Amino acid sequence: MIILTGGTGYIGSHIAVELLNANQEIFIIDNLSNSSSDVLKGIKNITGKDFGFKKIDLRDKFSLEKLFKEHNFESVVHLAGLKSVKKSNEDPLSYYDNNILGTLNLLDVMKQFKVTKMVFSSSATVYGLPKKLPINENSNVGATTNVYGRTKFIIEEILKDLIGKKEGWKISVLRYFNPIGAHSSGEIGENPRGVPDNLLPFIFQVAEGRLDKLKIYGDDYDTPDGSGIRDYVHIEDLAAGHISALNFLKEKNPISFFNLGTGRGYSVYEIMSIFENISGISVPFEVTSRRKGDISEIYADVKLAKNTLHWTATKSIEKMIEDGWNWQQKNLNKLKGLS
Ligand code: NAD
Ligand code: UFG
Repeated sequence: MIILTGGTGYIGSHIAVELLNANQEIFIIDNLSNSSSDVLKGIKNITGKDFGFKKIDLRDKFSLEKLFKEHNFESVVHLAGLKSVKKSNEDPLSYYDNNILGTLNLLDVMKQFKVTKMVFSSSATVYGLPKKLPINENSNVGATTNVYGRTKFIIEEILKDLIGKKEGWKISVLRYFNPIGAHSSGEIGENPRGVPDNLLPFIFQVAEGRLDKLKIYGDDYDTPDGSGIRDYVHIEDLAAGHISALNFLKEKNPISFFNLGTGRGYSVYEIMSIFENISGISVPFEVTSRRKGDISEIYADVKLAKNTLHWTATKSIEKMIEDGWNWQQKNLNKLKGLS
């Protein structure tokens, strides 16, 4: 059985669907600090399969130990963590406490119960300011521009230190680029609490009239139209990458690092215009100053994932935005209720 920490979250719920559809047994744990147990219904509706769930905070070691005692876990997909760049800079200690302490507890319990296979959710943010694009996995990491990114970098370093120890750890570190969109069924998707930090959820809420206008954080970057460029990847593609990464844990490599992206970047203006074409809604916007900690441009070199994991993202940017918008419209009332 595979345990998913943070499995009711945006990415975890889509991985749960992929794993259940691949006939894997799964168990989800989450403290529900940034998700709702309603997601469990969505996963069940899509897959028609049963799975385990328990509300647990990773910092509660006693409950973790109890759970590992009760179940025979084979591997862990570790997604649980706080992820807001902005909040991490405002309250660094809570980010170090939640993300680092949570991971240390989990690793210690895994070691106790001899569960030594892990897929870890890292982020492109560990690269900081890229020197060369597309950015590959051997590029320098650590010069991150925010506290959230530093928690990911520190966890990567902790994981590297486990290698060669007698427990025989096998770890895949996945550096996600910008996951967007929703499951094509419209049953599960992204449901940020409060005002969204990320571009797509923000655009959706402006289009619905819940927010006034989009603020474009600077259009004086050294990019063709001056706005920031990112590598957006469909959430279903990203989720499928985890199946490949779990399979790869059977190989000899004790630790491996993979970029999960499409290899192609889109600017804020391009994203806005694709959304407008799809929805038929024009998005009011203003250009403001750059957001602290933002970089101008990043997109992934995806060769390693392609050649080693045999994984590539297949869904277009239009499909990403279409599925995201479909979910947003289908769930408007529910989403309003939670925020
Ligand atoms: P999310 O907030 O939707 O999911 C994370 C889940 O972890 C939430 O359900 C939350 O309740 C849970 N959680 C947080 N702290 C916990 C704790 N101490 N114990 C138990 N559960 C806890 O975020 P997501 O977008 O699904 O991200 C999943 C992972 O991927 C995170 O580690 C995130 O940092 C990483 N990541 C996300 C992105 C992105 O753009 N979404 C990009 C790169 C990396
Ligand atoms: N942007 C705006 N206005 C907004 C929101 C975003 O102009 O209201 C711009 C940003 O400046 C950036 C682009 O849109 O150029 C994308 O911004 P996001 O906030 O959607 O995404 P980031 O690339 O800043 O960060 C995301 C996640 C991080 C993760 C990182 C890399 O939020 O958790 O991708 O994986 F680390």
